[in-house]
Amino acid sequence: MSGLLIGIGVGPGDPEHLTLKALKALERADRVFVPVTEAAGETGRAEHVVQAHVDPAKIERLGFSMRDASLRHENWDRAGNAIAAVCRDGGTAAFCTLGDPNVYSTFTYMWHTVRSLLPDVVVETVPGITAMQDLAARSGAILTEGNESLTLLPLTAGEDVLRAALRGSDTVVAYKGGRHMPRVREVLAEEGRLEGAIYGEHLGVDGEEVQAAGADTERRGPYLSTVIVPPARSQDRGGRLKDETGRAI
Ligand SMILES: C[S@@+](CC[C@H](N)C(=O)[O-])C[C@H]1O[C@@H](n2cnc3c(N)ncnc32)[C@H](O)[C@@H]1O
Repeated sequence: MSGLLIGIGVGPGDPEHLTLKALKALERADRVFVPVTEAAGETGRAEHVVQAHVDPAKIERLGFSMRDASLRHENWDRAGNAIAAVCRDGGTAAFCTLGDPNVYSTFTYMWHTVRSLLPDVVVETVPGITAMQDLAARSGAILTEGNESLTLLPLTAGEDVLRAALRGSDTVVAYKGGRHMPRVREVLAEEGRLEGAIYGEHLGVDGEEVQAAGADTERRGPYLSTVIVPPARSQDRGGRLKDETGRAI
């Protein structure tokens, strides 16, 4: 009998962003897995969020290397095997992840791995507040209104992907970009999109900073940094509400 695997989004870092549904799922779980990417023994971000709510004896750390890509599949296999060991006898395993489990999350690879080991395992996810939502709230940036489109992209996909999004989408949100920030600012300026763009790092955790993306042109950011590029908007209430022909409604 194969058990249940729940991917739980714990929000970007502020423990108050854990949802009631996530709390209930954590209570239900026989074992709560948390990814740790830093030096062994250091508390991971997701672990920090759930620590206050979960019996420490239920928590198990799974190490993932951010620096060594060659270890990636080895890490996923080891972590997936640890999770499958809980589900194999009908147990419930929770895997906690920053933000939402269906948005650029290691949970996706855990899901694949555990499913390949236990084809009958039931998989559920509990949505979490994403980093872009948190940055919008902390900065007062409106993500979208009316007919505006929104593109979310990883800066690791390259400059052309960023430029295409800036040209083809109203609001653009960029993840995974800290070290690329000096070049990102240049591209935003070249595309006429730097003004109004917001940058946030370490949201909800120590070292949090939220500022205009153009404020510090040379500075690189950490991995946990997010950029929101809103479109130019008039101050008219409802001005972005349009019908399919582009006529104001
Ligand atoms: C692997 S993705 C995880 C995304 C996450 N699942 C979500 O729903 O927001 C990691 C990226 O999310 C963003 N991110 C996650 N937590 C963040 C935080 N506390 N502060 C700033 N950005 C964060 C950063 O862009 C980071 O590079």
